[in-house]
Amino acid sequence: MRGEPLARHARGPLRFGVSGPYLRVDPLDSEETRPERIADVKAVPAVQIKNERVIVTEWTFAPHAETGQHVHAFDYVVVPLTSGTLRLVEPEGSRDVQLTAGVSYSRPAGVSHNVININAHEFRFLEIELM
Ligand code: NI
Repeated sequence: MRGEPLARHARGPLRFGVSGPYLRVDPLDSEETRPERIADVKAVPAVQIKNERVIVTEWTFAPHAETGQHVHAFDYVVVPLTSGTLRLVEPEGSRDVQLTAGVSYSRPAGVSHNVININAHEFRFLEIELM
């Protein structure tokens, strides 16, 4: 086992940014010092499968929506359902990644980031967490 899970994606919009591991930008930061624009719109998770081995969640991002800062407790696979660019705001900085519908990738537990849809169109992906 990987030790104590840190945190999972919040499972409803009301939990985002309320407390705990979800880091928020200080509202007193100036536009100049703020590292990333923080969208008001949150990505919406919909759990499709949840059992003792796997959680499959469909994430839907309106244009400019974000997940909020979170830490992945489990190894996971992402299957983009849309092609486009996502901005990953990580402890090391931020980077934009190109995703292609149907082209999956995997990441290890412990990844910490905020994910922002910087496209003008809706973006969706499936997240498959391996427990
Ligand atoms: Ni994530």
